Amino acid sequence: MINKPKGTVDLTDRKARIWKYVEEVIDSVMEKYNYNYIRTPIFESTELFHRGIGDATDIVTKETYDFKDRGDRNITLRPEGTAGVVRSYIENKMYGTHNLPVKVYYNGTMYRYERPGKGRLRELSQYGVEVMGSNDPLMDAEVISLAYNINKMLGLTDTVVHLNSLGDKESRDNYRKALKDYFELHLDDLCADCKERFVKNPLRIIDCKVDSDKDYFREAPKIIDYLNKESKDYFDKVCEYLDILEVKYVIDPKIVRGLDYYNHTVFELMTEESKLALGGGGRYDNLVKMLDGPDTSCVGYAVGLDRLVDELIDRNLITNIRDDIDAFIMYVNEDEKKNAIYLANELRMSGFVVETEYNNKGLKSQFKRADYFNSKYLIILNSDDLNEGLITIKNNKTKEEEKIMMEYIIYYFDEHLSDDNLEIGEECCHHHDHE
Ligand code: HAM
Repeated sequence: MINKPKGTVDLTDRKARIWKYVEEVIDSVMEKYNYNYIRTPIFESTELFHRGIGDATDIVTKETYDFKDRGDRNITLRPEGTAGVVRSYIENKMYGTHNLPVKVYYNGTMYRYERPGKGRLRELSQYGVEVMGSNDPLMDAEVISLAYNINKMLGLTDTVVHLNSLGDKESRDNYRKALKDYFELHLDDLCADCKERFVKNPLRIIDCKVDSDKDYFREAPKIIDYLNKESKDYFDKVCEYLDILEVKYVIDPKIVRGLDYYNHTVFELMTEESKLALGGGGRYDNLVKMLDGPDTSCVGYAVGLDRLVDELIDRNLITNIRDDIDAFIMYVNEDEKKNAIYLANELRMSGFVVETEYNNKGLKSQFKRADYFNSKYLIILNSDDLNEGLITIKNNKTKEEEKIMMEYIIYYFDEHLSDDNLEIGEECCHHHDHE
């Protein structure tokens, strides 16, 4: 038997249905905020991520899936979505053809060679948004509240945004210097990773997972105290707008993010029960330029769908996905079967959820199968009735049954079932729109 690779998951059964439901909620909310769906390649040239995410970051140094293709090109499976979207923005010259800002969202798999564990996969899924072409703090606030509101609509009413600002370059330079001066005194106490960070990227010492509880960590300088006036004013505006949007947030000096492209606003999405961040993001005003595009201010975030769906399931927050079908059509002989085939098609095309028998098993086994799918109605076909245009329809809960003309079946179901049924293509999240 061949098993799936380490750090991957199969999505099946109820979890798959919850996953699809979550995606529907995301799609429908994105539509209301007027974010356009975008799909970029799952593999890109290796250089994109080295220049985009940063040569010294954990993701790029330790976690990428790199390979040479048969044409000897250096290829990397995307570890995140931002670099690809920005590449696409530049390559398609959206800055010239679109009205700015361009607001897009995506949903797809990412690849990181991490040590697998709870909430850590090697093939993970993210949905995310990127906004290119606005440096208004309103944009930061909108993006944060979008993430927050999707969580809320899914039932995560205890979502809290952990918010911080990395300021502009000047603020960060000052802070970096203060951090170096501070940790210089504690150099011997730092873990091996942090010793390296001290040299390459002192900011990252702040989110060390090993020592963060120690006193000398808690007393380390906080970036908030090193923001210059411009950066501080920007951050205050973001907070002011978040208050209007009624987003619950805390200012958390530990959020510095693991990717190099951020400045100003950074944030992570937590709930009271989540141990790992469900999502994260922030402003990145220099990435487009670093990738040879025009100077363009951007902001975005991504949420890990695996972590999100796991938490929804663990906390039993999704209770309204379909766990039954409308009708099971039962038959025995070939003549009845042909009618079953016809009827199933008619009903399905009218928006009803219909199942039937596919192994020519007897009625007893068909009753079992109908119960397995929690069928609301049983449609029992037999040749004598069919000759008179009649079918038997049985309410599987009340066990009441009646004979009706086959040609009236759609009207019958419209009357008895239509309240909780949807036509194919009809929006199916409308009852979540009002909290
Ligand atoms: P990130 O913080 O690296 O940000 O990832 C965002 C989310 O993806 C995490 O909060 C987590 O839920 C999920 N995630 C990351 N790694 C794993 C993993 N190994 N297994 C399961 N889930 C994982 C970014 O990727 C940025 N591109 C976000 C962004 C967009 N910033 C600006 N625009």
